[in-house]
Amino acid sequence: MKNLDAKQKERTYKKAVRELNSLLKNETHPVLKMATINCILKDNLPYYFWTGFYLVHNGELIVGPYQGTLGCLHIAFGKGVCGTAAKTKKTQIVPDVHKFPGHIACDSQSQSEIVVPVFDRDKNLIAVFDVDSTEKNSFDETDKKYLERLFKSHFVA
Ligand code: SME
Repeated sequence: MKNLDAKQKERTYKKAVRELNSLLKNETHPVLKMATINCILKDNLPYYFWTGFYLVHNGELIVGPYQGTLGCLHIAFGKGVCGTAAKTKKTQIVPDVHKFPGHIACDSQSQSEIVVPVFDRDKNLIAVFDVDSTEKNSFDETDKKYLERLFKSHFVA
């Protein structure tokens, strides 16, 4: 069982965010930030199986910095969980991917996921952040809160 209880999850996000804030303090390049965010979050949170960014490019999503098994290279807006997050610009929490209509299975080990939109300072959508877990029900409002806050402070501010 890799899922964390509520207290452990809060504690772990706080620690990871502290590490990231200090590492990225003077950094500006989005790819550097994305790669480092993937690494620190995946290292700290045991239920993170696949973690990565899909970048908005030429009207679709293309795979960007990630850690994990081979990700799909292209995802259309509106398709799957990532495409839905990109189209609606709203975080998607999926407790069981098999119940999400049109879910794109890049790796059949994925059981639950969260996808969070990432905006720049002009409020343009630049990417979505996708985390997959091999367990069901891994993600909840705590993940949403910390991830949305993290992207706000590193890509908007
Ligand atoms: N799960 C995603 C596809 C991307 S991979 O899982 C890396 C989706 O349905 O959007």
